[in-house]
Amino acid sequence: MSRVFIFDTTLRDGEQSPGCSMNIEEKVRLGKQLARLKVDIIEAGFPIASVGDFEAVRQIAKQVRGPTIAALARVLKKDIDRAAEALEPAKKKRIHTFVATSDLHLKYKLKKTRSEVLADAIAGVRHALKYTDDVEFSAEDAGRSDIAYLAEVIEAVIDAGAKTVNIPDTVGYTIPYEFGALIAQIRSRVPNIDKAVISVHCHNDLGLAVANSLAAIQNGARQVECTINGIGERAGNASLEELVMALKVRKDLLGITTGVKTEEIYKTSRLLTSITGVDVQPNKAVVGRNAFAHEAGIHQDGVLKEKTTYEIMTPESIGLQQNRLVLGKHSGRHAFSERLEKLGIQLKPKELNLAFVRFKDLADRKKEIFDEDLRAIAEDEINKVEEVFSLEYLHTTSGNTTMATSTVRLKNGELILQDAAIGDGPIDASFKAIDRITGIPGKLESYVIKAVTGGKDAMGEVNLKVVFNDKSVLGRGISTDIIEGSVRAYLNALNKVAAIPPGKKQKKG
Ligand code: KIV
Ligand code: ZN
Repeated sequence: MSRVFIFDTTLRDGEQSPGCSMNIEEKVRLGKQLARLKVDIIEAGFPIASVGDFEAVRQIAKQVRGPTIAALARVLKKDIDRAAEALEPAKKKRIHTFVATSDLHLKYKLKKTRSEVLADAIAGVRHALKYTDDVEFSAEDAGRSDIAYLAEVIEAVIDAGAKTVNIPDTVGYTIPYEFGALIAQIRSRVPNIDKAVISVHCHNDLGLAVANSLAAIQNGARQVECTINGIGERAGNASLEELVMALKVRKDLLGITTGVKTEEIYKTSRLLTSITGVDVQPNKAVVGRNAFAHEAGIHQDGVLKEKTTYEIMTPESIGLQQNRLVLGKHSGRHAFSERLEKLGIQLKPKELNLAFVRFKDLADRKKEIFDEDLRAIAEDEINKVEEVFSLEYLHTTSGNTTMATSTVRLKNGELILQDAAIGDGPIDASFKAIDRITGIPGKLESYVIKAVTGGKDAMGEVNLKVVFNDKSVLGRGISTDIIEGSVRAYLNALNKVAAIPPGKKQKKG
């Protein structure tokens, strides 16, 4: 069977997705999980873009072992030098350099001729080779480029030493049979193509990114660029989980394998949503909440008789344990940590202690505790930041004929600070009371609440985005009381800003 390399660009193209930016520590955490997922290449960022991007690539190069670490650079010397500097600590490194090849981009964006861009592409690849022999070249907007010119550029960069040539459908414009034919054309028109791996990078503007990538594979592409949950610029990139599972489920037809450990897929998807606060839609293939739910009676009946009647892959194959009733208020610490281990969640000893206390507290409030509850508690502990302000006391009043009020007491070091406010509702009043206490007013940009499990006593998970001191931060909070969950999310966001010492604020490009 042929092997396709999985190039994960969640940390670069994925991060270009609105609302999906991550800080350095979060990127390293996701990078380590991508290594456990066993992707072949991790594109860690675009170092010239900002100091934050540079440092994130450098930390991933230093701390993540297993996959090749790639950094993006235009075909400019200064970009390539910066990418090489960031990649310096990596065991296996790749410089990914790109320039657009479509006439549209040449005329309006680059304002250069075809021969100038050809020369730039060759010079970029040669310069990158001074740092590593693993150089990838991308012809941006290849999907809309003239095929003769594209083939000329690809031949020249392979001659210059590029080991991987990437054919992006940058604007998600192509249709599967057309994109497959483009890859076939490149194979037949580029005489030295056997000296490089053909890669594809498909965007999802028409919802065809995965289909286009599969068509490319059928025509000889042997690297696919993709992202967890399909995040990325505009409508996103090809989703890793869909691509990998399509190759696995239909290996009878496609005859292709990957090195991905599919049992790590669900965990990786969850880690990304818990870091960014951006959920996948319920009907998202493979990792959506409904992906393995059978609603219709006929389907349920079939699945009970024989799973394969309506199930083409098992939840276990992506590492999803069924939403079982697991523990209760009498469950001990051992059962608790064992269950977390079964779910593939590793906590540090201190996090485990705190999570166990919260589990006991939850068990007092809620009759049945499910895997999803445990996951939410554990994710909350993992995402915790240093608590400059912690919640001591919260009291709210509200009603259809009452003015909503909130009294909040916070602990700040040794200090106990308290204030009250009125608002549009109890959540608004609580946020205002916190602003009065801290003197750091927050502007709420987005607010999403969801139930972690079914049932009236379910925990609510709040994900919000607030601007404090011109810095937009994400906050997450969980509780069976949605007002408390909202306050915890607001404080989680506030603490991210309050914990950064002045002068140490991270720049983002
Ligand atoms: O979509 C695109 O063309 C890209 C390139 C930089 C590979 O992201
Ligand atoms: Zn892209």
